Amino acid sequence: MNTRFRNKHLLTTEDWSKPELETVFEVAFDLKKRFALGEPHRLLQDKTLFMIFFEQSTRTRNSMEAGMTQLGGHAHDLTPDKMQLSHGESAKDTAVILSRMGHGIAPRNCFYGIGNNYLNEMARYATVPVMSLQDDVYHPFQGLADLMTLFEYFGRDLRGLKVTISWAYAKSHSKPLSVPQTQILLFPRFGIDVTVAHPKEFPLNPAIVEKAKENAGAGGGSLTLTRDMDAALEGAQIVIPKNWGGFGAYGAEDYLQNEAACKQEMAVNLEKHKPWIFDRRRVKLTDKHVKLMHALPADRNREVTDDVMDDETISIVYDEAENRLHTAKAVMALTMGGR
Ligand code: CP
Repeated sequence: MNTRFRNKHLLTTEDWSKPELETVFEVAFDLKKRFALGEPHRLLQDKTLFMIFFEQSTRTRNSMEAGMTQLGGHAHDLTPDKMQLSHGESAKDTAVILSRMGHGIAPRNCFYGIGNNYLNEMARYATVPVMSLQDDVYHPFQGLADLMTLFEYFGRDLRGLKVTISWAYAKSHSKPLSVPQTQILLFPRFGIDVTVAHPKEFPLNPAIVEKAKENAGAGGGSLTLTRDMDAALEGAQIVIPKNWGGFGAYGAEDYLQNEAACKQEMAVNLEKHKPWIFDRRRVKLTDKHVKLMHALPADRNREVTDDVMDDETISIVYDEAENRLHTAKAVMALTMGGR
């Protein structure tokens, strides 16, 4: 078991070896058990985490903040308007100064073409671990919670498990690519067979897809892409119906130079694909024991119908959300404490 994590950044699960990830899950399961027993586990007593949210969050914010409290420390819930970031203070200066005052930095910045660069800039200068709370490319904590949930429902050997990630229609906002991209990179490393369905206007980043195929080759899983949602659902044991914006159709620089036009085109393309919903008819295409997962928030009755989302024989979305807490605590305990 790998046990050396102190000050290790978590910007993407790609930077963590499989043995390191296995340790995270060992710790997460242990902390989940201690949480259930009401047993104190103050592994980060008197330590401080600085969270910086450029966007809204329910699960990520509260899993980190509650997690720090349960580990005996404290998390500052920061937003740019509370900080000199709003007056242009650099990522470097922010990272260096927060490193002098506390024990971890956890930013969320999902702006397309900006977020991942911003987090990497912080990590370059921070002397404490920088943990991504999601950017425009990756959402590592979501991937960890998803995998923990799969272990709970299907056991620790996930080879041959059939997971279908399908793009789905949503109106709430143009969701980042980072959840499906993290899932396609991570799941096949554990032998999972992943199928991704999406309309042609909503691709994932081609470089990430290529890397995910490499991961599948090394990990014994597979990655299949299709534009047919029904075909992708045939025999699926897990379905993740998830909207993402059409960012992957644009290079980051092109997008930033023509942002208004790209957004307009994405909005027009979105309305072509309203039938992409996971509903009762589509449940019938899947394995008879199918489970529904979703990072949440779900756009109910657009991505997935209420009757499927609320069917407790199918939906495991709340277990998945709870596991954000236990995996977050495991990573924080290992990187901010540990050795
Ligand atoms: N899944 C997820 O990251 O949820 P929040 O945006 O609420 O943090």
